[in-house]
Amino acid sequence: ASGISPESPQKYVEEISQLPKEKGWRGLQELFLYKNFWLYPVFLEGALHARDHFQAQPTDIFLCSSMKTGTTWLKALSFTIATRGHLPTDDGSDMTTVSLRTAVPHDCIPFLEFNEYSTAVTGSEIPLFASHLPYTCLPKSIIDSDCKIAYICRDPKDTFVSMWFFLRKFVAGKNSTDVESFSSIDEAFELFCKGLSSHGPYWKHILGYWEASKRRPEKILFLKYEDLVEDTQLWVKKLAEFFGCPFSAEEEREGVVERVVKECSFESLRNLEVNRSGKHEKRGRAIENSAYFRKGVVGDWRNHLTDEMGKKIDVIMEEKLMGSGFTF
Ligand code: A3P
Repeated sequence: ASGISPESPQKYVEEISQLPKEKGWRGLQELFLYKNFWLYPVFLEGALHARDHFQAQPTDIFLCSSMKTGTTWLKALSFTIATRGHLPTDDGSDMTTVSLRTAVPHDCIPFLEFNEYSTAVTGSEIPLFASHLPYTCLPKSIIDSDCKIAYICRDPKDTFVSMWFFLRKFVAGKNSTDVESFSSIDEAFELFCKGLSSHGPYWKHILGYWEASKRRPEKILFLKYEDLVEDTQLWVKKLAEFFGCPFSAEEEREGVVERVVKECSFESLRNLEVNRSGKHEKRGRAIENSAYFRKGVVGDWRNHLTDEMGKKIDVIMEEKLMGSGFTF
């Protein structure tokens, strides 16, 4: 895909200021309504810039997701699948590429919205990009061209809990006094249920990609975090096929699929030095890499939300997704 032409962001600042806005989660910026989705300005600016400048190529592959649904894991798996010819040995001696052992997955596969319009760091034969943008907010060339999209979603209860902890940590990182004014989990939950969350409404984000994947299954592969947890090997094979680089019989015999899964497991990634103590830059904001590896389990919401809260969001999702054929 082509590079960026430098342009003053002022024009986007103006465009954004014309949009409807809401207060959203306390302690964070206001949310702006763009094409029926609530976005923070930092993502929105990048979305507008990509809209005007990004030209997808038919060979590009996009990893799309709403926040906190397994993006980091999908990036890790995809990057490892694409660079599996260079899998590191246990002592790391034959690494020929920048690898997951030395870079957080977000530094291996850039987000479209953050203007990092380069392909993955050396070694990936496939041009891999990522985006949190809703389907209808993607640059037109991504929709119109033959490039492919792998989309991951996750149970809304776990997604919400993961988001709350992540954003609270982000706010605390900026200024420790801010965290006291950050939305309580109950308050944030009510907003999430109204669709007021980063890239929300969450159900609408899912629905956009779900419907597109029904129309164009050859273009969009739809994944669920929970399915990935249940049978990672199966989904790693599906991803490789979808990317156009299926595992050969020999690779399967040699256990390459298992190695990819192991290399990207929550435990392996979380324990790496780069993810324990490293930081990751997003538009000049430093985010601790460890924030991307909290617990990585299905159903952790039960430790933070009541049964009634769980029921409430399930009912909303059911209503909103009714008739689509999609269920969790
Ligand atoms: P929890 O907060 O529930 O632990 P995203 O990558 O979209 O920001 O999503 C983050 C969630 O994915 C976090 O969930 C994180 O722990 C989990 N996660 C990160 N790496 C993972 C991995 N390799 N395997 C499983 N889950 C992972």
